[in-house]
Amino acid sequence: MTTAPTNEHGAPAPVMSLRGISKRFGAVQALTDIDFDVFPGEIVAIVGDNGAGKSTFVKILAGVYTPDQGTITFNGESVTVPNPAAAQALGIATVFQDLALADNLDVVANLFLGREITHGVLDEEEMERRSWELLQQLAARIPSVRIPIASLSGGQRQTVAIARSLIGEPQVVILDEPTAALGVAQTAEVLNLVERLRERGHGVILISHNLADVQAVADRVAVLRLGRNNGTFRIQDVTYEEIIASITGATENAVTRRAAARTDQEATL
Ligand SMILES: Nc1ncnc2c1ncn2[C@@H]1O[C@H](COP(=O)(O)OP(=O)(O)O)[C@@H](O)[C@H]1O
Ligand SMILES: [Mg+2]
Repeated sequence: MTTAPTNEHGAPAPVMSLRGISKRFGAVQALTDIDFDVFPGEIVAIVGDNGAGKSTFVKILAGVYTPDQGTITFNGESVTVPNPAAAQALGIATVFQDLALADNLDVVANLFLGREITHGVLDEEEMERRSWELLQQLAARIPSVRIPIASLSGGQRQTVAIARSLIGEPQVVILDEPTAALGVAQTAEVLNLVERLRERGHGVILISHNLADVQAVADRVAVLRLGRNNGTFRIQDVTYEEIIASITGATENAVTRRAAARTDQEATL
């Protein structure tokens, strides 16, 4: 990865910023006035109850939906993300919950699906070498890159899906509920992998229902409630109970807290 971008003051700059994002589906206001930043080498979790707007937000980041209002800045430049191809071209990779792996193909074929390395013919050797290299960098436990996806565990599939998202060297990686279907050991493995992404300098956006996961790996957590941002906290400054209170709406002073979190963040920059 390149060195971290900085703003005009030499402070680290977000790789992606959203301001005032709103999205309505007919009568349902799914998102209202969302502000969000992710920095390079940072894991930001997005949490919230069912219907809070997490999936809608992710789909806006991934170019699946376009917002009705608001701005998106990527690497300091104002951008639009009209479709998934545009997101990918910018350097935003999304691992959706269904993973979209081809079960009957092997790991190499899945990693390079649609981005095969060819020199007139498929360069299987080069793709296999790069697959091993990538999985090794991620400290991934995959027994062989020549076995079909169907024979891998849930955690290993998640690993392959995440590795595949890195083939295009994205700056931002979005993970939608990566541990939702996993047991304890596989969850730990995938969380390790998420930390490797941070080490590689990616900005990581982690959608999760599991606050233990969030507290284990995230640097910051953004809470969505009824389509609004009900607080953004640095993980070291917030308790489990405070996050729950923000998710359920028991916390009434969300605006104050958000302002405090911003001041803290600015103070550390
Ligand atoms: N395509 C859609 N059409 C109509 N309403 C939608 C659509 N997608 C989401 N919604 C509504 O928007 C709100 C936010 O949903 P969603 O983003 O899926 O929340 P979450 O992922 O946090 O559970 C919900 O009220 C949901 O019913
Ligand atoms: Mg959802």
